[in-house]
Amino acid sequence: MSRIVVAGAVIDAGRLLLAQRARPEHLAGLWELPGGKVEPGETTAEALRRELDEELGVEVTVGEAIGAPVEVAAGVDLVALRAELVTGTPQPREHLAIAWVDADELAALCARGVVVPADTAWLPDLDALLRGE
Ligand code: C5P
Repeated sequence: MSRIVVAGAVIDAGRLLLAQRARPEHLAGLWELPGGKVEPGETTAEALRRELDEELGVEVTVGEAIGAPVEVAAGVDLVALRAELVTGTPQPREHLAIAWVDADELAALCARGVVVPADTAWLPDLDALLRGE
């Protein structure tokens, strides 16, 4: 059975929340949609709510999937879900930093190669969301 990793596209006022990974070494310093592994018995939405609480100290509501799942390793699929902040201000508890980026800034980061490779697959979908299409 495949493992699922879930990532959140938290969008607020036309900006997307990115978090800068601290580990593992080959991903450290790169920006990602924050999230983590879905534990047995959890839905993807439950896992995303738990991960964003643990990692960033925020409560979110989870919406629809964005783009297509990406296989990040053999038997490990990464899915992106929309999320909206309900309470809290994101704090980087496990990341190096957080940033709120608009569509142009997101495209520039992807072009510079400083976004986690798997997440760049969602650039067209994220771009459309950020531009309000
Ligand atoms: O965050 P965590 O280390 O639990 O995620 C497991 C793996 O999923 C990462 O090592 C990375 O390969 C992948 N991942 C990703 N993009 C994300 C979140 C996780 O590629 N936004």
